[in-house]
Amino acid sequence: MLILSVLLFSVAGCKHSSENRSLIAEGERLATKGEGPVPACASCHGQNGEGNNITAFPRLAGLNKDYLAKQLRDMAREMPPEGVVMDPVARDYSKTPRVNSDLTVFTPGLRHAPVMSPLAKNLSEQQINAVSAYYASLSYTAKPLPADYQTLERGADLALRGKPEYGLPACVSCHAPNGEGFGADFPPLAGQPPKYLIEQIDKWQTGERDNDPLALMKAVANQLTDADKINAAAYFANRSLVVKGQ
Ligand code: HEC
Ligand code: HEC
Repeated sequence: MLILSVLLFSVAGCKHSSENRSLIAEGERLATKGEGPVPACASCHGQNGEGNNITAFPRLAGLNKDYLAKQLRDMAREMPPEGVVMDPVARDYSKTPRVNSDLTVFTPGLRHAPVMSPLAKNLSEQQINAVSAYYASLSYTAKPLPADYQTLERGADLALRGKPEYGLPACVSCHAPNGEGFGADFPPLAGQPPKYLIEQIDKWQTGERDNDPLALMKAVANQLTDADKINAAAYFANRSLVVKGQ
C-alpha cells in the first residue's frame, strides 16, 4: 500500500502532464526531423538546441517557452502595409553617421529575420506551441568563452553597473544577476553566441527588431556604442550557466 501511494504520488507530482509530454514529443519531432516545408530546427540551432557560436545561431535550449513562442510569432508577422516610415539613406549605415534614429524603420511588434521569418511563417500555431515547449524542456550547460581581461572588465562594468551617468540601467537589472534571463520577457544573455547578442542590439538600433515589451530594450540599445556591444557580449559569453529544462 505504501509503495502504491508513493508511486501514485510520484506520478501525480511529475512535472509534465501527459498532455504536455505529447506536446513536447511533437515539438521534438519537428525540431529534429522537420516537417513538410519546415526544415529541422536542429540543423541550425544544434542537436540539443545549444546554438552555434560561429554562425551566431542562437541557443534555444532552456529558454522560456512563452518567450520562444512570442519570437516565432513576431518573426512570422508581415510588415504592415501602411504607417511604415523608411528612410533608404539612413538605413545604410556605411553612408550615415551613427545617429540611432527611431525613425529609420518603424514597425512595432515586428522582428525581421531574413533566415527565420520565411520559416516562421510556415509554422502553425500548434507547431509553435509544440516546438517552444520542447526547447523549454531541454537542459543546458554553458561552455564559457575566454576573452581578454580588459574586454571582460569593461563588459562587467556595463553588465553590472550600466551607465548611471546617462540613465542606462545595468543589463543584469533586467536580464537577471548572471544574465540567465527572467520569465517570458527577459531572455538570457549568458550562454548565447556573442555574435548573436551583438547582431540583435544592432537590429534594435536600425529598427529591424522592434518587438520588445514597452520598448525597454530599444531604449537600452540606442545608448550602446559598438565597443559596449562587444564588451557586454564577451562578458555574458564568459559566464558559467546551468539551466534545468522546464
Ligand atoms: C537555416 C537556419 C535556421 C533554421 C533551420 C532554424 N533557425 Fe531559428 N534562427 C536562425 C537564425 C539565423 C536566427 C536569428 C534570427 C535573427 O536574425 O534575429 C534564429 C532565431 C530563432 C529564434 C529566436 C531566439 C531568441 O533568442 O530570440 C527562435 C525562437 C528560433 N530561431 C526558433 C527556430 C525553430 C523553432 C526552428 C525550427 C522550426 C528554427 N528556428 C529553425 C536560423 C535558423
Ligand atoms: C530595462 C530592462 C532591460 C535592460 C536594462 C536591458 N535589457 Fe536587454 N532586453 C530587454 C527586453 C525586454 C528584451 C526583449 C524581449 C522580447 O523581445 O520579447 C531584451 C532582449 C535583449 C537581447 C536579445 C536576446 C535574444 O535572445 O534575442 C539582447 C542581446 C539584450 N537584450 C542585451 C542587453 C544588454 C547587453 C544590456 C545591457 C547593456 C541589456 N540588454 C539591458 C530588457 C532589458
